[in-house]
Amino acid sequence: MKIVITGATSGIGRQLAMDYHAEGHEVWALGRNVQALEELAAHGLSTGQLDLTDRDAALAWFARLDSVDLAILNAGTCEYIDLPEFDSALVQRVMRANVESTAISIEAVLPLLRKSQSPHLALVGSSAAYLPLPRAEAYGASKAAIAYMAKTLRIDLHPENIAVSLICPGFVKTPLTDLNDFPMPFRISVQQASDYIRKGVMKKKAEIHFPKRFTWILKLLSFLPGPLWTIIGRQMVRK
Ligand SMILES: NC(=O)c1ccc[n+]([C@@H]2O[C@H](COP(=O)([O-])OP(=O)(O)OC[C@H]3O[C@@H](n4cnc5c(N)ncnc54)[C@H](OP(=O)(O)O)[C@@H]3O)[C@@H](O)[C@H]2O)c1
Repeated sequence: MKIVITGATSGIGRQLAMDYHAEGHEVWALGRNVQALEELAAHGLSTGQLDLTDRDAALAWFARLDSVDLAILNAGTCEYIDLPEFDSALVQRVMRANVESTAISIEAVLPLLRKSQSPHLALVGSSAAYLPLPRAEAYGASKAAIAYMAKTLRIDLHPENIAVSLICPGFVKTPLTDLNDFPMPFRISVQQASDYIRKGVMKKKAEIHFPKRFTWILKLLSFLPGPLWTIIGRQMVRK
């Protein structure tokens, strides 16, 4: 397969890129960090350096490829709101990095997927979007937007036989979560995350969520009546 992975210079995306390359696929690993891209190139991966929030640059870069079988749109970030300040600049940064970069990547990669015999688009959301979680006003909203986009694209791209998956990780140990200063139950390694994702992608699952012992708890809690969850959520707020 010819595979494009965004956010491949670090964390989950880097592990996925290395694993797909080791399986013998042609992998295009994208990111901004030049040194990380050079390391991936030294391992034999094809690389592309671009900021995915730059629409013109992204469209121009993707136009160099002739076709893509699998696109995993994984680039993203996480920042938390700390009240009493509701920092709208933080919200803009998170929306730009998570939602806009994904939308731009979709626009850029769709024409290439349409040239594949078995096209597959996978968007990386988060299990954080299952429930309103404290401090996640920006991050949770951005991942809820990605979930909606993936579910809608699954409907709209069906006539073209383009499979669409939504990937919802729980906590994965990466440079991003190393910044967190709160408990991260059932946190798994990037290798485990990559294994879950590649298995789910192979089956073209609509939703790839893991680790199940964590995501099923969140899914069950999401069925609680709203007011009940609000009471539980309030107990999680830092004193
Ligand atoms: N780790 C978790 O527990 C967890 C849980 C749920 C969901 N996720 C999601 O999984 C994805 C990967 O997370 P991670 O933990 O592996 O994070 P990470 O280690 O910080 O990696 C993030 C990647 O995204 C790239 N990126 C960010 N903004 C970009 C931009 N504007 N243009 C191009 N590339 C950009 C980074 O590239 P550069 O470093 O080259 O700039 C980096 O390769 C994210 O979407 C995250 O929200 C993670």
